[in-house]
Amino acid sequence: MRSVIKSVYEDQSDILNSIIALHCPDGFDCDVTYGNGQFYKNVPQPTYKFDIDPQQDGVIGACSTNLPIRDKVLNSLVFDPPFLTYVRSGREGNGGMIMAKRFAGYWRYDELEDHYRNTIVESKRVLKKDGIMVIKCQDIIHNHKMHCTHANVIQWAATAGFRLLDLFVLPAKHRLPSPNRAGKQKHARIFHSYFLVFK
Ligand SMILES: C[S@@+](CC[C@H](N)C(=O)[O-])C[C@H]1O[C@@H](n2cnc3c(N)ncnc32)[C@H](O)[C@@H]1O
Repeated sequence: MRSVIKSVYEDQSDILNSIIALHCPDGFDCDVTYGNGQFYKNVPQPTYKFDIDPQQDGVIGACSTNLPIRDKVLNSLVFDPPFLTYVRSGREGNGGMIMAKRFAGYWRYDELEDHYRNTIVESKRVLKKDGIMVIKCQDIIHNHKMHCTHANVIQWAATAGFRLLDLFVLPAKHRLPSPNRAGKQKHARIFHSYFLVFK
Protein backbone atom coordinates (compact mmCIF):
# COMPACT_ATOMS: atom_id res chain seq x y z
CA MET A 1 0.00 0.00 0.00
CA ARG A 2 1.27 3.50 -0.78
CA SER A 3 2.40 5.39 2.32
CA VAL A 4 0.49 8.50 3.37
CA ILE A 5 2.14 11.83 2.59
CA LYS A 6 2.70 13.82 5.80
CA SER A 7 3.04 17.55 6.46
CA VAL A 8 6.40 17.20 8.28
CA TYR A 9 9.61 15.59 7.02
CA GLU A 10 13.19 15.84 8.29
CA ASP A 11 14.55 16.04 4.74
CA GLN A 12 13.53 18.72 2.26
CA SER A 13 13.80 16.22 -0.62
CA ASP A 14 10.91 14.31 0.95
CA ILE A 15 8.84 17.51 1.10
CA LEU A 16 9.63 18.49 -2.51
CA ASN A 17 8.88 14.96 -3.77
CA SER A 18 5.63 15.00 -1.77
CA ILE A 19 4.65 18.29 -3.45
CA ILE A 20 5.41 16.74 -6.85
CA ALA A 21 3.36 13.64 -6.00
CA LEU A 22 0.38 15.67 -4.82
CA HIS A 23 0.38 18.71 -7.10
CA CYS A 24 3.02 18.63 -9.89
CA PRO A 25 2.93 15.20 -11.55
CA ASP A 26 5.44 16.28 -14.24
CA GLY A 27 7.92 17.76 -11.73
CA PHE A 28 8.68 21.46 -11.32
CA ASP A 29 8.76 23.61 -14.46
CA CYS A 30 10.85 26.43 -13.03
CA ASP A 31 12.98 27.49 -10.05
CA VAL A 32 13.51 31.26 -9.84
CA THR A 33 16.06 31.20 -6.97
CA TYR A 34 18.02 28.09 -7.98
CA GLY A 35 21.11 28.83 -5.81
CA ASN A 36 23.39 25.79 -5.62
CA GLY A 37 20.58 23.45 -6.62
CA GLN A 38 20.48 21.83 -3.16
CA PHE A 39 16.76 21.21 -3.68
CA TYR A 40 17.44 18.87 -6.57
CA LYS A 41 19.89 16.40 -5.04
CA ASN A 42 17.15 13.76 -4.91
CA VAL A 43 14.41 15.59 -6.78
CA PRO A 44 13.94 15.89 -10.58
CA GLN A 45 15.57 19.05 -11.96
CA PRO A 46 13.28 21.89 -13.08
CA THR A 47 13.14 22.76 -16.77
CA TYR A 48 13.99 26.45 -16.24
CA LYS A 49 16.60 27.53 -13.69
CA PHE A 50 17.04 31.18 -12.74
CA ASP A 51 18.98 33.06 -10.07
CA ILE A 52 20.06 36.67 -9.76
CA ASP A 53 23.57 35.38 -9.03
CA PRO A 54 24.00 32.09 -10.93
CA GLN A 55 26.33 29.63 -9.20
CA GLN A 56 26.10 26.77 -11.68
CA ASP A 57 26.17 26.09 -15.41
CA GLY A 58 22.70 26.05 -16.91
CA VAL A 59 21.33 28.63 -14.50
CA ILE A 60 20.21 31.83 -16.23
CA GLY A 61 20.84 35.17 -14.52
CA ALA A 62 17.47 36.83 -13.92
CA CYS A 63 15.60 38.60 -11.17
CA SER A 64 12.62 36.67 -9.84
CA THR A 65 10.51 39.82 -10.20
CA ASN A 66 11.22 40.14 -13.94
CA LEU A 67 11.55 36.70 -15.54
CA PRO A 68 12.47 36.16 -19.22
CA ILE A 69 9.34 34.02 -19.69
CA ARG A 70 6.14 34.66 -21.60
CA ASP A 71 2.76 35.02 -19.89
CA LYS A 72 0.92 31.92 -18.66
CA VAL A 73 3.31 29.20 -19.87
CA LEU A 74 4.37 27.45 -16.63
CA ASN A 75 2.57 24.71 -14.72
CA SER A 76 4.68 25.25 -11.60
CA LEU A 77 7.32 27.51 -10.09
CA VAL A 78 9.57 27.29 -7.00
CA PHE A 79 10.72 30.37 -5.02
CA ASP A 80 13.21 30.12 -2.13
CA PRO A 81 14.45 33.65 -1.42
CA PRO A 82 16.83 34.69 1.37
CA PHE A 83 15.00 34.89 4.70
CA LEU A 84 17.44 37.00 6.71
CA THR A 85 17.16 40.71 7.33
CA TYR A 86 19.79 43.16 8.58
CA VAL A 87 22.35 41.51 6.31
CA ARG A 88 24.81 44.26 5.42
CA SER A 89 26.79 42.82 2.57
CA GLY A 90 24.99 39.83 1.11
CA ARG A 91 27.40 37.11 0.07
CA GLU A 92 30.32 38.70 1.92
CA GLY A 93 28.57 37.79 5.15
CA ASN A 94 27.55 39.71 8.20
CA GLY A 95 29.78 39.05 11.18
CA GLY A 96 29.10 35.60 12.55
CA MET A 97 25.89 34.95 10.62
CA ILE A 98 26.86 31.78 8.83
CA MET A 99 23.85 31.69 6.49
CA ALA A 100 24.56 35.22 5.32
CA LYS A 101 27.86 34.04 3.90
CA ARG A 102 26.09 31.59 1.62
CA PHE A 103 23.01 33.52 0.54
CA ALA A 104 22.23 37.17 0.15
CA GLY A 105 19.76 38.76 2.52
CA TYR A 106 17.89 42.03 2.94
CA TRP A 107 18.58 45.05 5.07
CA ARG A 108 15.03 45.92 6.18
CA TYR A 109 11.97 43.68 6.48
CA ASP A 110 10.04 45.84 3.99
CA GLU A 111 12.71 44.98 1.37
CA LEU A 112 12.04 41.30 2.02
CA GLU A 113 8.31 42.03 1.72
CA ASP A 114 8.78 43.86 -1.61
CA HIS A 115 10.77 40.94 -3.02
CA TYR A 116 8.12 38.43 -2.00
CA ARG A 117 5.18 40.51 -3.17
CA ASN A 118 6.76 41.40 -6.55
CA THR A 119 7.83 37.80 -7.20
CA ILE A 120 4.36 36.53 -6.32
CA VAL A 121 2.85 38.98 -8.84
CA GLU A 122 5.42 37.88 -11.45
CA SER A 123 4.60 34.22 -10.70
CA LYS A 124 0.95 34.96 -11.35
CA ARG A 125 1.95 36.39 -14.74
CA VAL A 126 4.04 33.39 -15.89
CA LEU A 127 1.92 30.59 -14.40
CA LYS A 128 -0.97 29.05 -16.31
CA LYS A 129 -4.41 29.25 -14.75
CA ASP A 130 -4.38 26.84 -11.77
CA GLY A 131 -0.55 26.75 -11.88
CA ILE A 132 1.32 25.81 -8.69
CA MET A 133 3.61 28.20 -6.79
CA VAL A 134 5.88 26.70 -4.10
CA ILE A 135 7.53 29.06 -1.60
CA LYS A 136 10.07 28.11 1.04
CA CYS A 137 10.20 30.59 3.91
CA GLN A 138 11.10 30.99 7.54
CA ASP A 139 9.87 33.22 10.33
CA ILE A 140 12.49 35.47 11.92
CA ILE A 141 13.02 37.38 15.12
CA HIS A 142 15.09 40.51 14.98
CA ASN A 143 15.61 43.01 17.78
CA HIS A 144 13.05 41.08 19.83
CA LYS A 145 10.37 41.55 17.16
CA MET A 146 8.70 38.50 15.64
CA HIS A 147 8.25 38.63 11.85
CA CYS A 148 5.83 35.81 11.05
CA THR A 149 6.92 35.54 7.43
CA HIS A 150 4.98 32.37 6.62
CA ALA A 151 1.69 33.99 7.71
CA ASN A 152 2.59 37.16 5.82
CA VAL A 153 3.40 35.19 2.66
CA ILE A 154 0.01 33.47 2.80
CA GLN A 155 -1.59 36.93 3.02
CA TRP A 156 0.57 38.43 0.24
CA ALA A 157 -0.19 35.45 -2.02
CA ALA A 158 -3.94 35.68 -1.27
CA THR A 159 -3.85 39.36 -2.27
CA ALA A 160 -2.41 38.30 -5.64
CA GLY A 161 -5.13 35.66 -6.11
CA PHE A 162 -3.38 32.48 -4.84
CA ARG A 163 -5.01 29.95 -2.52
CA LEU A 164 -2.98 27.87 -0.05
CA LEU A 165 -3.16 24.15 -0.89
CA ASP A 166 -0.61 22.69 1.52
CA LEU A 167 1.80 23.70 4.26
CA PHE A 168 4.85 21.55 5.03
CA VAL A 169 7.20 22.01 8.00
CA LEU A 170 10.92 21.23 7.85
CA PRO A 171 12.65 21.00 11.26
CA ALA A 172 16.16 22.47 11.17
CA LYS A 173 19.04 20.00 11.14
CA HIS A 174 21.57 22.60 12.21
CA ARG A 175 21.66 25.67 14.39
CA LEU A 176 19.99 28.66 12.71
CA PRO A 177 21.17 32.26 13.23
CA SER A 178 20.41 33.36 16.75
CA PRO A 179 18.65 36.56 17.75
CA ASN A 180 19.78 36.00 21.36
CA ARG A 181 23.50 36.54 21.53
CA ALA A 182 23.50 37.73 25.14
CA GLY A 183 21.12 38.38 27.99
CA LYS A 184 17.84 36.73 28.86
CA GLN A 185 16.09 34.79 26.12
CA LYS A 186 12.80 36.45 25.15
CA HIS A 187 11.56 34.31 22.24
CA ALA A 188 11.68 30.67 21.27
CA ARG A 189 14.59 30.01 18.95
CA ILE A 190 13.17 29.27 15.50
CA PHE A 191 14.10 25.75 14.47
CA HIS A 192 11.92 25.10 11.44
CA SER A 193 11.02 26.44 8.01
CA TYR A 194 8.01 26.07 5.73
CA PHE A 195 7.19 24.95 2.24
CA LEU A 196 3.93 26.63 1.21
CA VAL A 197 2.07 25.32 -1.82
CA PHE A 198 -0.35 27.67 -3.63
CA LYS A 199 -2.66 27.43 -6.60
C1 LIG B 1 18.07 30.44 0.01
S1 LIG B 1 18.96 30.58 -1.48
C2 LIG B 1 18.21 29.38 -2.54
C3 LIG B 1 18.76 27.99 -2.32
C4 LIG B 1 18.26 27.00 -3.33
N1 LIG B 1 16.86 26.67 -3.12
C5 LIG B 1 19.10 25.73 -3.36
O1 LIG B 1 18.49 24.64 -3.35
O2 LIG B 1 20.33 25.79 -3.40
C6 LIG B 1 18.39 32.10 -2.11
C7 LIG B 1 18.84 32.37 -3.53
O3 LIG B 1 18.07 33.50 -3.99
C8 LIG B 1 18.88 34.21 -4.89
N2 LIG B 1 18.27 35.53 -5.06
C9 LIG B 1 18.28 36.58 -4.21
N3 LIG B 1 17.59 37.61 -4.71
C10 LIG B 1 17.11 37.20 -5.92
C11 LIG B 1 16.32 37.82 -6.93
N4 LIG B 1 15.86 39.07 -6.81
N5 LIG B 1 16.02 37.11 -8.05
C12 LIG B 1 16.49 35.83 -8.19
N6 LIG B 1 17.25 35.20 -7.28
C13 LIG B 1 17.55 35.88 -6.15
C14 LIG B 1 20.25 34.20 -4.24
O4 LIG B 1 21.27 34.47 -5.18
C15 LIG B 1 20.30 32.78 -3.68
O5 LIG B 1 20.93 31.89 -4.60
